[in-house]
Amino acid sequence: MKKLPVVLITGGAGYIGSHAVQEARKNGFDPVSYDNLSLGHAWAVQGSPLVKGELADRKKLSAAFKKFKPAAVMHFASHTSVGESVANPQKYYQDNLTNAMTLFSVMLERKVRYFILSSTAATYGDPVEVPIPETHPQAPINPYGDSKLMLEKILAWYDKAYGLRSTFLRYFNAAGADASGKIGEVHEPETHLIPLVLDAAMGRRKEITVFGQDYPTADGTCIRDYIHVTDLAGAHFLALKRMMEKDKSDFFNLGTGKGFSVKEVITKAEEVTGMKVPVKMGARRAGDPPELVARSSKAMETLGWQPRHSSLENILRTAWAWHQGYFGKIKTSRQPAARSRQARTRH
Ligand code: UFG
Repeated sequence: MKKLPVVLITGGAGYIGSHAVQEARKNGFDPVSYDNLSLGHAWAVQGSPLVKGELADRKKLSAAFKKFKPAAVMHFASHTSVGESVANPQKYYQDNLTNAMTLFSVMLERKVRYFILSSTAATYGDPVEVPIPETHPQAPINPYGDSKLMLEKILAWYDKAYGLRSTFLRYFNAAGADASGKIGEVHEPETHLIPLVLDAAMGRRKEITVFGQDYPTADGTCIRDYIHVTDLAGAHFLALKRMMEKDKSDFFNLGTGKGFSVKEVITKAEEVTGMKVPVKMGARRAGDPPELVARSSKAMETLGWQPRHSSLENILRTAWAWHQGYFGKIKTSRQPAARSRQARTRH
């Protein structure tokens, strides 16, 4: 059997990384994950090779490159919470930047020339144009987005100086779970809207707090472009294959082009789960732009990418199936949505 080229996936045991691991073979690559398991889970690589190590451990990283001889690297391992980055920028600049620098230096040493960066819509800051094209000014309003923008800038220079080709994939809001039910989102602690809403639907959490209802949007809550994690993972391989074929760096937005407000997500979640989601109105969360919606035509036209799994309904349906399977049975304390709505109208 022909040996497949190896792709080293940092953060392969994490949420998006594990979906990339799952997609690798279908796309003609052998995945090897490098993960410290501080946020990831060993089960998420589903039996594929996993090196447990710190990105800061140059020796270990270098040994993994020597052993597995990757043709390319996908870099998912990083901190990704916008709110946390505002409260603790040191953590974001330290880990997201310096660990990536170690990774780059090992790549240069081992002559690995293809790199996919998990970048983010947060590099754009407050949009001046929506949907946001890739050419939109990049002016992040939180340290998370800023740390990713710095990496984009560094990589642009590395391309010129060392011929290290990279593709920046600027994700909008990753959500949903693989249809197999074997992998899905598990962050500890969880900060993302959809899993928190599902927690509230399940009764694992008392309620969901809506962060701000005075934004300049139709219902006053923030609008985001939710993209299914399987579509995201697939885009990585389309981008990698093209980068290797053309030997050229590039950058793409990955979103659906359609935004949903926090309130719309909650309403849809009640519909999909059939459960009531108790809601509390809260203050704005620092670092949140009012609206982030992608223009993704570049990825569609250049890579032939289509977000096939990304209707809000499918995102919530797959996330709900995963959530119930992983976190256990629905607690009886929570009433189905229809019943509680009736109850409300009776009073
Ligand atoms: N939200 C709430 N209540 C919560 C949690 C979130 O109202 O308990 C709101 C947020 O304020 C935001 C929206 O729901 O308006 C989505 O928040 P998430 O935390 O789920 O996601 P973010 O938009 O903050 O960030 C996500 C990724 C980032 C990425 C960004 C790009 O986590 O890595 O999308 O859009 F940069």
